Amino acid sequence: MERVFRIRRFDPDKDSKPYYSEYRFDAPRGMTVLEALFYIIENVDPSLSFRYNCRAAVCGSCGMEINGKHRLACATQVSELKGDVVIEPLPGLRVVKDLVVDMDDFFNKFLVVKPYLIRKTPPPQKEILQSPEERKELDPYIYCIMCACCSSSCPVTWSRSTYLTPSVFVKAWRFVADSRDEAKEEHLAGVNSEDGVWRCHTAFRCVEACPKDINPTSAIVNLRRKLAFSRG
Ligand code: FES
Repeated sequence: MERVFRIRRFDPDKDSKPYYSEYRFDAPRGMTVLEALFYIIENVDPSLSFRYNCRAAVCGSCGMEINGKHRLACATQVSELKGDVVIEPLPGLRVVKDLVVDMDDFFNKFLVVKPYLIRKTPPPQKEILQSPEERKELDPYIYCIMCACCSSSCPVTWSRSTYLTPSVFVKAWRFVADSRDEAKEEHLAGVNSEDGVWRCHTAFRCVEACPKDINPTSAIVNLRRKLAFSRG
């Protein structure tokens, strides 16, 4: 069945403003949006730029806005989408070219929460044990693939570029909730700021946007509770 793809294009080296390119071709059953983009560069327009890697919803590289929703192109079936398929880069991030956005600022924000397991005691002879119940505390948050779909859907992010963003809070809570971590106050300190968890307006757009069904708002609430409790 023929489908229409409208893709936002912009090359800052050549274009004074963004524009849309339209492509029409048969999209067979089972074709993903990422495969449609491949079809375009292989058969119609090799100048189109987009980012991908795993093609299996694991690496987080192919986040983009598709028919107004933030999704992974590799995990979105064209047949799921109604009408013209409109593909745009994630908002709130500088466009490098077409659908490729600059992720440096997004990744750099994670550093403030020390996104790694910190131990203070000497390492045990064997592994650090964790019970199934303790592991369950992490399960809702550990599958974040850092695709920026949640962060770029947040209205606070659009109005305040220094806001840490929902994905940073998910990462912080993932370590605060980890029974093996011994520096919870250090992760918490990173989100306890003007641009931290207190600035969230609970718009819940991050919850709708996450392609891995993670609930960043619950991570934010958990962090706020922990901070309030720590203050006594
Ligand atoms: S290409 Fe890796 S998540 Fe889509």
